[in-house]
Amino acid sequence: MEDNGRRWWRLVLIASPLQGHMTPLLQLGTYLHSKGFSITIAHPEFNPPDSSNHPDFVFLKLPDNLSGPGSFPSFLGFLQALNDNCRPHLQKHLVEIINAQKDESEKESIVIIHDNLMVFGGSVAVDLGLPSIIVHTSSAAFFPAYKIIPQLHHEGRFPVHDSLMQEIVPELKPFRYKDLPFINLPIQDAVESANMITPKSPPSAFIWNTLEFLEPSALTQIRQQYQVPIFTIGPLHKTSPTPSTSFLEEDTSCITWLDKQQPKSVIYVSLGSVANMDKKLATEMAWGLVNSNQPFLWVVRPGSVKGFEWTEFLPEGLVAEIKLRGLLVKWAPQKEVLAHNEVGGFWSHCGWNSTMESVSEGVPMLCQPISVDQLMNARYLSYVWKIGIEIVLEKRQIEDAVRRLLVDKEGEEMRQRAMEIQQNVKLAVSHGGSSQNCLNDLVDFILSL
Ligand code: UDX
Repeated sequence: MEDNGRRWWRLVLIASPLQGHMTPLLQLGTYLHSKGFSITIAHPEFNPPDSSNHPDFVFLKLPDNLSGPGSFPSFLGFLQALNDNCRPHLQKHLVEIINAQKDESEKESIVIIHDNLMVFGGSVAVDLGLPSIIVHTSSAAFFPAYKIIPQLHHEGRFPVHDSLMQEIVPELKPFRYKDLPFINLPIQDAVESANMITPKSPPSAFIWNTLEFLEPSALTQIRQQYQVPIFTIGPLHKTSPTPSTSFLEEDTSCITWLDKQQPKSVIYVSLGSVANMDKKLATEMAWGLVNSNQPFLWVVRPGSVKGFEWTEFLPEGLVAEIKLRGLLVKWAPQKEVLAHNEVGGFWSHCGWNSTMESVSEGVPMLCQPISVDQLMNARYLSYVWKIGIEIVLEKRQIEDAVRRLLVDKEGEEMRQRAMEIQQNVKLAVSHGGSSQNCLNDLVDFILSL
């Protein structure tokens, strides 16, 4: 982007190879490109984005020598190796660009915008004297919650004693100790994970894929701790929609199937791109869905049931029952599914993208949080926004929860509240709304760097 005919801007966006992180980063790049900035997407070799969907971006592959988190005993180990291995190539590349621009009139201003897991972006920026902006693809509340873990550990409050689990963490109202990130990791991994992703020095700014009205207290808390601009520009799939960013192929046949169902009758089930479960639990889910007598669309990601390629874990009798009122797919066009009028509820692991996509369409949820930030997102959904029911993974309780959400008055009231939130999302992303204003401010801020 040319500024007064003198300066050019190259924004180097550093992507994490996880679906839930890659998608919002590409959406952000799309928005910034539409405002005239040159965009480089620096990404690990593992799980690369599809460059053909973004012909205007430059893609910089960072050799990582990794085959994914599965080859490491812990996710933390994977993350550390990813950061260590990707860093040298990025630094070398940027140094070459800077050295090649001897002529002041052709100088590009470089800004590093990095995913919060790709912490090496911040340290490369410090080394090279470049501005950096951290992008958070999870809730704002997640940040103070993981940041405080080393302190809680120091004070003897983490690992959490059973007697404290249901209590509210005084520094993190309304979240309970049981909602804390990394609570199900070994203690050392939990503390190291928190330390690793806490910025060592403040960035020039933060970006959050959230909405101001959804989490005012968390954002106030962060603003008190960091005197740098914070841009709340979500939900990015609404403020800056892009072509599909899925690593897996979307099965669009489910849209034709949805077309044949009754309005608000279908429960859509998906546990995101990372979560795995065992055969017993998956079978319990299947029985609960079948017995609820409601139509269901269930994403069973290949390999997500441990030890099985796809749905071979299901006994034959159950497969026949499923066919009567359900549809199983490997990967769905989720945003389109949630926007479909026949979908009345979303059974989710409460990843932040899924949460934002559901609230944007006014769809109430069944909450099955598994780890990391998902426990906090579920607390928001069930306790704060009151549009979610926490599900217990036993077939009768599942059956009951599905019917509570889709058939009972309780579910109808949740749907009403979800639709009120949807209206507020629409306002926030429209002209003059908080997210649109933040996007404009972000552009001005980058130009001021
Ligand atoms: C991860 C973490 O688990 C999550 O907690 C964190 O907030 C972001 O990173 P993931 O588990 O994949 O993400 O969940 P989520 O954030 O919900 O992202 C999943 C994405 O995959 C969503 O954008 C969803 O629309 C998409 N998806 C999922 C599909 O497009 N099709 C599917 O069938 C399933």
